[in-house]
Amino acid sequence: MTELKRFSVSLNKNLLKKFDRHIKTKKYPTRSKAISDLICRELVKEEWIKGKMVAGAVILVYDHHRREILNKLTDIQHDYHEIIVSSQHVHLDHHNCFEIVIVRGHPEKIQSLANKLKSAKGVKFASLTPATTGKEI
Ligand code: NI
Repeated sequence: MTELKRFSVSLNKNLLKKFDRHIKTKKYPTRSKAISDLICRELVKEEWIKGKMVAGAVILVYDHHRREILNKLTDIQHDYHEIIVSSQHVHLDHHNCFEIVIVRGHPEKIQSLANKLKSAKGVKFASLTPATTGKEI
């Protein structure tokens, strides 16, 4: 188990008040958990900027009736097979598909894959959620 270290933080009174409101809204059990979450988010941002090995997910929503879209998305994913860990396809309704592509690798390569998927004709929604492999934090 990770060793915990206690430290004290001095904050502007109003800022702390706002932070406590934020903690309540987000249902954090303690200030420590909320602060730890903020720090981790910043460290993950840094991992992406510094080009470390990262993980993430690309979410796509598209109409599979659009001509050639399935082939196009498959071609793109094959070009990036070395960073794709897994993908899952869900049929939302008669027209719309929801796909989540889980990726692990260099941030630039992941961003490049996300951009290609995003710009494919017929994709209605695309987003990249940056995450971490967990090794650095
Ligand atoms: Ni589908």
